[in-house]
Amino acid sequence: MVTTFYMPTRIVAGAGSLATVGDLARQLGMTKALVVSDPVISAQPFHADALAALAEAGIAVARFDGCGIDARCSHIDEQGERVRREGVDGVVCIGGGSVMCTGKGVAIVATNNKPMRDCTGVGRFDIKALPMIMVPTTAGSGSEVSQWTIVKDEERHLKLLGGGPLSFPDAAILDPATLGSLPMHVAVPPAVDALTHGVEAYLSGIASPLTDAVALAAVRLQFRSMRASINSKDGRAREENLVASCMANVACGNARLGHAHALSLPLEGHLDLPHPVGVGVLLPDVTAFNLSVLPDKVRPLAEALEVDAAGLSRAETIAACAAALRQLYADIGFADRFTPDQLPRQRVREMAERAVPGLYAGFSEAVAGGPAAAGDRTVIASPAARTMTVAQAERIFDNCLA
Ligand SMILES: [Fe+2]
Repeated sequence: MVTTFYMPTRIVAGAGSLATVGDLARQLGMTKALVVSDPVISAQPFHADALAALAEAGIAVARFDGCGIDARCSHIDEQGERVRREGVDGVVCIGGGSVMCTGKGVAIVATNNKPMRDCTGVGRFDIKALPMIMVPTTAGSGSEVSQWTIVKDEERHLKLLGGGPLSFPDAAILDPATLGSLPMHVAVPPAVDALTHGVEAYLSGIASPLTDAVALAAVRLQFRSMRASINSKDGRAREENLVASCMANVACGNARLGHAHALSLPLEGHLDLPHPVGVGVLLPDVTAFNLSVLPDKVRPLAEALEVDAAGLSRAETIAACAAALRQLYADIGFADRFTPDQLPRQRVREMAERAVPGLYAGFSEAVAGGPAAAGDRTVIASPAARTMTVAQAERIFDNCLA
């Protein structure tokens, strides 16, 4: 099997690193930056510090503070048009996953001069996105080092992924000062999402020794630091979590994401479930499903999840890995089952069928795929190690109901 490991984003990390944003923007050739954020983050002192650093470096600024829970195609298309109109030549994102996905989308559509919907799928645009600097404010999505943007097409109720080698952020600034004010209910979901990135990269059918090394180290660091990072707001643990979430995305950017993300996609698009809830609840079952065909990976993952596997059979160790994830969820206050409101039982089969096109389909495949084309044995498109059918996905959904 031929594998590639590509990660061109410069990572600047540590306390005080946010002060470098102006110099980085100048080095990237920016003269006028669109600073993308949301209403909460744009009111934080560190956001003002970043604007001051840009001004000090002589970078003019246009602002978009209107991001919400999801990156929306409508926002991206509007801002892309604005960027072209106002002569903006770079994007600086300060926020969580939806902010970074919005800014990345703007950077893509601005240079490619077509709507975001037409840029979804793998490598569906030809021109390099505008220079981008990402400042994550949650230890979570890892979008700061990812070529992918995940966007919501509100008209069609679809969550879509777009990206390719031309849409990697140019720089990521990991400054723990951005995490200081995060309340627990904000910190937990992205941390769980980050954990799914590391685990899914490790369970991928296109994993390599390089991605395995990064993925396993990310999972180990996340698992070790997440409780203290969230429950006691320990500064050191938060910094570790921020780095670990970035590492997890370096791994999944190359090994890609598996069934938790593929199955979550229709829940996010059609049932408005937040991304971390979808992938997080699915992760324990998806982990057990894929580990069953990866015998050499059972012990290393168990060790990273702090499972004492002494005396356990392989099947028992796999079950203990799923249990360790659920115990972590209990300890950090993340529900490990879908409520009937989140996923009504009568919609389980429909969701399993809608998952068929997978995470890496573009708009046209996502619209063409789904229930009409799917039967029990139809395979869910995914790079995960084990093939999953619609019937198996249905069983996993059922098992994840409260
Ligand atoms: Fe994710």
